[in-house]
Amino acid sequence: MEINYDTGKIVVAGGRRLSGTVRISGAKNAALVLICAATMATEPVILENVPDISDIHVLVRILSEIGLEVSWPAPGTLAVCATTAPQLPPPYQLVKKLRASNLLLGPLLARFGQAQVSLPGGCNIGVRPMDLHFKGLAALGADIRMEKGTVLASAGRLRGARIYLDFPSVGATENIMMAACLAEGQTILENVAKEPEIVDLANFLNCLGARVRGAGTDVIKIEGTDRLGGCLRYNVIPDRIEAGTYMIAAAATRGSVHLSGVISRHLEPLCAKLREAGVSVTEDEESVLVEGGGNYRPIDIKTLPYPGFPTDLQSQMMAFLSTVPGISLITENIFENRYRVADELARMGARIKVEGRLAVIEGVPALQGTQVRASDLRAGAALIIAGLMAQGRTEIYNPGYIFRGYHDIIGKLRALGAEISFQDE
Ligand code: UD1
Repeated sequence: MEINYDTGKIVVAGGRRLSGTVRISGAKNAALVLICAATMATEPVILENVPDISDIHVLVRILSEIGLEVSWPAPGTLAVCATTAPQLPPPYQLVKKLRASNLLLGPLLARFGQAQVSLPGGCNIGVRPMDLHFKGLAALGADIRMEKGTVLASAGRLRGARIYLDFPSVGATENIMMAACLAEGQTILENVAKEPEIVDLANFLNCLGARVRGAGTDVIKIEGTDRLGGCLRYNVIPDRIEAGTYMIAAAATRGSVHLSGVISRHLEPLCAKLREAGVSVTEDEESVLVEGGGNYRPIDIKTLPYPGFPTDLQSQMMAFLSTVPGISLITENIFENRYRVADELARMGARIKVEGRLAVIEGVPALQGTQVRASDLRAGAALIIAGLMAQGRTEIYNPGYIFRGYHDIIGKLRALGAEISFQDE
């Protein structure tokens, strides 16, 4: 029988220090966009280090439902072959589960001249408009219309353009960058996102024969080309958010955890903040050792586009800071609705006041385990961290959110000594 991860619960017995080594998986947000980009290739693409998480499985199902060939030749290795035109639209039942399906818009439009995606769902973390995606694609010559919640985009050959993003949106940068690879002439994209996933996407596109320069800086220049070929081996970068979650969990349980298979440069914003809080963090290029304990100090965090502190680690930090003596402040600058976890942490005894974008956390001596509910993927990870720190037993409902983005989180935490299990109901 197939396990239904949308029901059931994760049960954590608190009070165990995490210790040992954890290997970090491929990045969810990189793998998702690379799979979308693979639909632009006229020859087969093989991606390696693809994480085994439900968001990826949903995207793979979307591609196969629209008629593209996708298969898993080995665990973690995904083959995509998009030689035939897709049958649009992708089924709403799948698209609504995955916001990242909006990243098919640019690639399908540029390759096949049309794309159709339902305004997607995803995590419940605030208003997530797509105006910047649409503006950019329209500037490349696309006709974008909205009909009954579906985005219909069509175009002949796209034309390169100079585009300034009002905000360095990750998704908009990716969608426009992908489409521009098949446009005629040069595209200059200004004020773009600089996240490592953007650099990974540019490297992958170049592997397919695209000409993308400047990824990782504020300006990306793309010389369009007629077609993109294949790529028989491309390794997805390690997941800096998964890595960050284990680092925070190590600090929170006053444990000692060694992370392998990371790019530690991508973790700098978190390393700096953990050190400021009194956690020992030692890094070399591909591994990080986090040693918790001693006296922690309160800190202030502001989420910002990369290389600022990532919004995707904000909830986990909130859980950690809830038992750090003194007053810590968090300012959430990216998603306005990302404090729903505060209410759940409060049920465990945390003292957190939220006012607009600001959260004031007054450290308490300990949290107490109880029943809580994940409201999104990272909130779910934060509740696991809270459960690991808490006295007694914590039951986390809505665990499906967590399995969307963490490859074998139960197995990895158990290997580090946590008492945690998934219980199907
Ligand atoms: C991506 C990540 C997500 C991460 C986020 C910010 C993926 C699959 N998801 O999401 O995990 O939390 O980056 O690092 O990679 N905005 C607009 N108009 C737009 C697009 C965005 O106003 O057209 C706003 C959003 O409402 C939000 C901000 O820009 O306030 C950042 O969003 P964006 O960078 O686009 O995030 P995503 O790409 O959706």
